[in-house]
Order: sequence, then structure tokens, then C-alpha cells
Amino acid sequence: MSDPIALVPLPQSVVWSEGVWTTNDPWEGLSVGLNDSLPPTEYALSISPAGAALSAGSEAALADGRNTFAQIVTGAGGEIPCVTISDRPKYAWRGLHLDVARHFLPVEEIETFIDAMALHRLNVLHLHLTDDQGWRVEIKGYPRLTEVGSWREQTLIGSMETPEETWTFDGTRHGGHYTQDELTGLVDYARRRGIMIVPEVDLPGHMQAAIAAYPELGNFPEQQVGVREVWGISDHVLGVSDTVFDFLRDVLTQVAEIFPAPYLHIGGDECRRVEWERSSAARARLNEWGLTRISEIQGHFTQFASEVLREQGKRVIAWDEVLETHLPDDTIIMNWRDSAGVKTSVDRGFQTIISTHDQTYLNYYQADPKDEPVALGRPNTLKDVYTARLEPAKLPEEKRALLLGIQAQLWSEYLPDPASFQYMAFPRLCALAERAWGSPEQSWEEFEERLRAHLPRLDAFGIRYRPLD
Ligand code: ACM
Repeated sequence: MSDPIALVPLPQSVVWSEGVWTTNDPWEGLSVGLNDSLPPTEYALSISPAGAALSAGSEAALADGRNTFAQIVTGAGGEIPCVTISDRPKYAWRGLHLDVARHFLPVEEIETFIDAMALHRLNVLHLHLTDDQGWRVEIKGYPRLTEVGSWREQTLIGSMETPEETWTFDGTRHGGHYTQDELTGLVDYARRRGIMIVPEVDLPGHMQAAIAAYPELGNFPEQQVGVREVWGISDHVLGVSDTVFDFLRDVLTQVAEIFPAPYLHIGGDECRRVEWERSSAARARLNEWGLTRISEIQGHFTQFASEVLREQGKRVIAWDEVLETHLPDDTIIMNWRDSAGVKTSVDRGFQTIISTHDQTYLNYYQADPKDEPVALGRPNTLKDVYTARLEPAKLPEEKRALLLGIQAQLWSEYLPDPASFQYMAFPRLCALAERAWGSPEQSWEEFEERLRAHLPRLDAFGIRYRPLD
């Protein structure tokens, strides 16, 4: 028995037939099976007065088809239109990134996101599990990561883009973490809905929470730092001692074991070098490793993490900063900094996921900032998302093949509760999901009309989206 879930993007080809199929339990009337003669990404769904049949070229395509069926059924009230659908996605990677580090999101709220992803035939959940402001994953042998690193004493109120002397703090402890068992359960919950979870352990920057828990992970162990209480980029990054690399081996190995996905994201973004510049230990290591520039230390981390993960049969994904220093050829790049970077990355032969900030960051304002809760960036409206030029123009076919897909990012600095996460994600995620599925180019007006008809499905899932008007 499948979990009844629902979804959104218009299939690429829909042939409407006459009539309806009347049923009280549509899942009972759905026959499902793999069909070798279909391409692996394709499914075929037919609904006739006699019942419904779904076949697909792979388990993944079967999940897509099941989600399409659930979408049709959601809100159909027992009368289901007779249709024949044959469909396949444009991209293999149709992702959503959730930052559960800046603000902790309880497991059941992540499950709601997973349901909503299936509703939109998104198939990868990227969980950003660690950052300066909070460490969210249990690691055996390192209890202080969650006892200390998961909690910050207080949080900045409002935008960080105000003068520092005017900052005020909420005086409230914030935190939480996921046990390994909870994460294993989440992996299974997602898998049953056709979704793979890819974890991120951000390194060697964005590690202040870990360094707060274990000062010996930093560059200056005698200096005690706390879990960060403001946003922005921390100077406190991992040091270069054997202790640090032993720690990373343990963390990456345990996280790799929790998440069966063949990938692990190692972050790599926004790693400041000021501490390395000041550290005699970092300079000594540089000589030992036969490197010359301080910046190359980051490449050493990328290389180390890749080797550990290769032993686990996994490939590394990282933000595009890793392109600036040494990295293995099979690294998958998430380009976030600018759309020109997407082209650079595929030109250099790297598999690439489009995650450009000005187009795919759903934590950016979605309307005029004066009318919205505090957020980041310049407004990236629903229409901007639906009509964005996501792919570089004029890519030769062999380069286009390196584009694995599209991913939405939901950073949570200014998302203090689950309702805020949902408000920022929806309905823009509906638009981005359709772009990632690659439904035929539609006009904005046509999409808006279709979205209005779709919103009751979000209501059915209890999603608190931003109203259209
Ligand atoms: C990022 O926004 N720092 C990937």
C-alpha cells in the first residue's frame, strides 16, 4: 500500500479521455509494475473507467508516477478523470536544500517538507546539518557536539544589516539535534516517497559550533569561542592538527553510514583564512604538505574528505568555492555565487547542480521588503523564479549533459519557526519544481492560473504558503 501523497508539475504530455473513474479508495484500484521497455526515467499512467495502471522504467520513475497519480487524486472527491500520461523529468536532480542548522526544524516538520516535495515530484532533500550557529547531528564519541554545539544562548533580533551598535538579542536559548536513529527513520520516510536525502557537513569553515564544543578543533585551542549568535561568516574555521582530521574521519564516516545516498555534501563555502594566516601550525603544515599558499589548505580538506568518502563508496558534492583550490575530478559542484559560474564549472568538466543565489534562494525576499518579514537579498518573486534563465545559453550537448539538475535553497537565518520556513518556500518552490521537472514552457499567466487551482492541495497538506495576492 503506497502512502497517499500528491504533487504538482504539469506532465509533459497529457491526453485527456472522456469520462471519469469513480472509486472510494483509488490506491486499491491502482496496478503498479516495472516495464523494461520504457526508458529508466519514464512512467506511463492510464486511468480508465475500469481502474488505473502505472508502469515505469525504474523504481525512481515509478515513484514519480505514483506521485502524479496522488496529485490527480488529491481533492478529486472520489471522481477521478480518465487520462493517459506518459512523462519523464528533464533533470535527474530536483532538489530542495533545508538549513536546519541556523534554526532547528523538528523531525515531523521535515516530514511535512518531504510530503510537499513528493507533491511536486522533487527527489533530493539536501539537509544542511552543521553551521556556526548550531550542530544538529549526533556523532558517537563526541557528546559535546550536541550537548554544547547544538545550543546557542541567544539570537540576534532582526536583520544583521543594521549597524552593530544597534543590535539586540532575544535572550532565549535555541537549539536541538537529531539522533542517528531519528535520521535513519527520516531517510526511510523520504525513500518511501521517492526522495533521497543528501546530508551536508560544512567544512572547513562554518564550523564554529563544533569548535565551541571542542576548542582543540580550532586554530587556537586556548581560545574558547561560543556557538555563534549572529549571522554572517565566522573567522573561526577548523585547524590543521591530526585531532581535526581524526574528527573529520569519524564524522564523515558516521554521517555516510546514516545516509545511504551515494553522495555527501562537504560545504566548502565562505571559508575565511585569517586564522590560518596567523597560525604557525598552519604554516608548518603547509610546508609538510608541499603547498605554498595558505588558500591551498582548503584544497587539502577537500581532498581529505573526498578520500574518506571514497572509502565509503561516496562522491563529494561541494559549493563552488572548492573550484579555487585542489579538488578531485569527480566532485559535483553546486554553483551558488553566480550564473556565469555554472558555465565555468561545466566547461571545466564538472557535473553541476544549478543553485544560483539570485534565482534559487528561497530565503530571499519574495516581494517588496517593506511588506515582508525580515529576509535577505533583493526580491526574488514567484514570477522571477518561474521565468528565470537558469541554464547558460548555447551550451554544447556534451556540456549540457553535465548539468545534473536544479535545486532550491532555503537558508534559515531569518526563519525562526516552521511556519516561516513554509511561508518562504511556498509557492515559489512550486515554480522551481516545475522548472526542474522541465514541463513545457508555459506563459507566466498560464502558470499563475494553474497555481491557483493547485493551492488547495497545499492547503490539504497544511502548508502555510504566502498568499498570491
Ligand atoms: C552559501 O550560500 N554560502 C552556499
